[in-house]
Amino acid sequence: MKQRTISIALLGHGTVGRSVYRIIQENHDRFVENIRQRTGQTVDPQIIGVLVSDLKKHSELGAIATTDPTRLLEQDVDILIELIGGQSPATELMTKALSSGIDVVSANKQAIFSSQGKLEKIARDHHVSFHYEAAVAGAIPILRSVKSLVSGRITKIEGILNGSTNYILTQVAQGVSLDKALQQASDRGFLEADPSSDVDGFDAMYKLGILTYLATGRYPGEDDIERVGITGLSPDEIEQAGLADKKYKLIASADFETGRYSIKPVALESDHDLYRVDGALNGISLWHEHAGGLFFQGAGAGGDETASAVVGDLIDAICLRILRCQHD
Ligand SMILES: NC(=O)c1ccc[n+]([C@@H]2O[C@H](COP(=O)([O-])OP(=O)(O)OC[C@H]3O[C@@H](n4cnc5c(N)ncnc54)[C@H](OP(=O)(O)O)[C@@H]3O)[C@@H](O)[C@H]2O)c1
Repeated sequence: MKQRTISIALLGHGTVGRSVYRIIQENHDRFVENIRQRTGQTVDPQIIGVLVSDLKKHSELGAIATTDPTRLLEQDVDILIELIGGQSPATELMTKALSSGIDVVSANKQAIFSSQGKLEKIARDHHVSFHYEAAVAGAIPILRSVKSLVSGRITKIEGILNGSTNYILTQVAQGVSLDKALQQASDRGFLEADPSSDVDGFDAMYKLGILTYLATGRYPGEDDIERVGITGLSPDEIEQAGLADKKYKLIASADFETGRYSIKPVALESDHDLYRVDGALNGISLWHEHAGGLFFQGAGAGGDETASAVVGDLIDAICLRILRCQHD
């Protein structure tokens, strides 16, 4: 019997998109088996098109590479994976896909935070799923964890949510100059296309906003979150902190009891949970009415690491689509 194809459109073939593309190709049979176990159906997930802005840079993709998102979405797409980043045209493309009955997976915290719940509502209105685990803390399954803590209130979240600034601060604390640390972060694919999004704290703010939405059901606005980046910190301040056995980290904090939200550099004492979260790692502490204190740590950036969360969402989206279709 011919297997049903699940058609996937991939937007972006950069740091994360390349990893997602490769992991999907290399693990096809594993995914088919996982989907079969979860749904009882055998399907054939296939990437039918990849959106890029410069075809010359992606010649290895052959005929499936395109610069035309409209034509890509006109094909019979089941799932859209959005990895171009930025607010526009990513928001418009996700809106179009969700409104057309296509399930969407994205890692785009900026577009998700800025839409302030509109993308989630469009997905609900059109009975499709919208997944964005990779948008917060890369490989750490923090959004799934927050969603599962429904038995009671989450009272506080505190974390290092931006791997690139953590990498930069760790390097500078070890005597590397700020310019060199920035270049190293960029060379390793840790920095956003617009580095000010990382160093000025916007990236961490988007992520804290998404965590707050999942914990409370309400997005804070930009003005509700105090935001201070790392560029005001001098190498001397970082060195002095080191001499006092402290470490500067860009800390994202949401206190749901007081309603106070902030992103700012904090010199942590050596007994703080986040003190040892170094390099590009992310760490998150959260406090829950029934579960007590929980601590998560893992890779917050990088192609394969972020792709691991994207692909987890993709397989969920495929399974939900199959189960939904069985009941239609
Ligand atoms: N990098 C990480 O470690 C990381 C971690 C967590 C989340 N994320 C998120 O993942 C997403 C992707 O990040 P990335 O680091 O992979 O970005 P990236 O390396 O800059 O790649 C972006 C890709 O999208 C394509 N693109 C961008 N704008 C486009 C447009 N208007 N039309 C067509 N193609 C376009 C680019 O095409 P060309 O190659 O032709 O220029 C490139 O292939 C972002 O939302 C980011 O916030 C990244």
